Amino acid sequence: MTAPHRQASPRRGAGLRREAVLATVPVAVAALLAAAGPASAGTIGASGAGDPYFPLSGNGGYHVKHYDLTLRYDTTSRHLDGKAVLTVRATQKLTRFDLDLKGLKVTGVKVDGTAAGFRRDGQELVVTPRHALRKDQEFRVTVTYNGTPKAVTDPDGSADGWIRTDDGAFVAGEPQGAMTWFPGNNHPKDKSSYDFTITVPKGRTAVANGVLRGQHTANGRTTFRWHQAEPMAAYLATATVGKFKVEQYTTSDGIQVYNAVDAREARAAAPVLKKLPSVLKWESKLFGPYPFRAAGSIVDHAPDVGYALETQSRPLYDSAPDVSTLVHESAHQWFGDSVSLTAWKDIWLNEGFATYAEWLYSEQHGGDSAQKSFDALYARPASDHLWAFPPGDPGSGKNIFDTPVYARGAMALHELRQAVGDQDFFTILRAWATEHRAGHGTTAQFVKLAERVSGKDLDGLFHTWLYQQGKPNKA
Ligand code: TRP
Ligand code: ZN
Repeated sequence: MTAPHRQASPRRGAGLRREAVLATVPVAVAALLAAAGPASAGTIGASGAGDPYFPLSGNGGYHVKHYDLTLRYDTTSRHLDGKAVLTVRATQKLTRFDLDLKGLKVTGVKVDGTAAGFRRDGQELVVTPRHALRKDQEFRVTVTYNGTPKAVTDPDGSADGWIRTDDGAFVAGEPQGAMTWFPGNNHPKDKSSYDFTITVPKGRTAVANGVLRGQHTANGRTTFRWHQAEPMAAYLATATVGKFKVEQYTTSDGIQVYNAVDAREARAAAPVLKKLPSVLKWESKLFGPYPFRAAGSIVDHAPDVGYALETQSRPLYDSAPDVSTLVHESAHQWFGDSVSLTAWKDIWLNEGFATYAEWLYSEQHGGDSAQKSFDALYARPASDHLWAFPPGDPGSGKNIFDTPVYARGAMALHELRQAVGDQDFFTILRAWATEHRAGHGTTAQFVKLAERVSGKDLDGLFHTWLYQQGKPNKA
């Protein structure tokens, strides 16, 4: 399957709307701010992580080690009450820093238990602690907030973030939407562990990432406690709410599986979800050990969404997936989730790899060979959209989920395989997942690794398939 895991024509939304600035800086802190002047410029955390595709995503000056999110969602009024406690380490002296948060109302911010100044500036929550934070200082930020979360519209017209459904919410944060439901450092450069405590009306289920630590019902509400131990990028967090049928088991490899399925999708999903353990086993053989202790699936009924997301440990589907989509989102657990991007420009490291995993699965399970998938794409004329831009340089955030990233990205890997042979190719894939496990990887690092393993100069190959405009000529 070569099409991205989304519908062919994205819905067009109203576009990003900047919100009015809400000034709520306490007097003492305002005075402190005014006194600071330009001399403190080097102590203000940057408003973005430096990604040209999404300049305001993420922030500078700190690393979030852990998020402790306590949420209560009323599926009737659509109101969300939230409290986020972030355990943070300053990477520079900070007199001020930003969190990403879009919409919602912030009712208080504390730093180490002391009220801090804060104001809203578009998607930035600007925090001024009472006392400057030293470089390397560890501190806690507590944000209390509430309101009706609203999804963001991405440059390609698709919605992400907290997307309401008829029975709850489909919560998918790639690339920008995490900021629609919790304040944080919303760029994959920063990875953190998470705890979620989510309260929903009795009869609804709240599904997040990692393992279920507990669940209890009282006074007509059920609270779910989830723990994601391995580092996770904010966009991979979920807190999907709905009426779900739940299935739990542990695989022969000790992975704790939790599947939540909307009844309307249950019949179509069942035969596919049954394959999850064997798909994870097959991928573990190819890519190395499964990177997380938990696994599973969330199969929602969200007909307007149009895509699935590789939410960490537990992919989220807008309807019953086919096997190819299950293979794709599962492959992302290694490529994208465990090994994360440092810039959205490198998105082919996620989507090209997950698409190539589909080709490999087909090849090894009685379907088309990867060569056949490649050939069918290569047969498309030079005017085809497949060749509209090179996958290693999509040009803007508008293109990151477009066909060239998925299909030509996978073609680049197939060309690599042809050049280095199967043995080195699979060594490269496994080494990539192993050496960058629970961390990050860049395209330059991948090229270097491929050259190291194969002993070949691969600059020309990667230049042609990742960076050259137009349809490449076959060597
Ligand atoms: N990463 C998803 C996948 O291919 C696709 C995706 C996530 C997406 N968010 C999106 C596609 C927003 C379009 C728009 O598995
Ligand atoms: Zn994908």
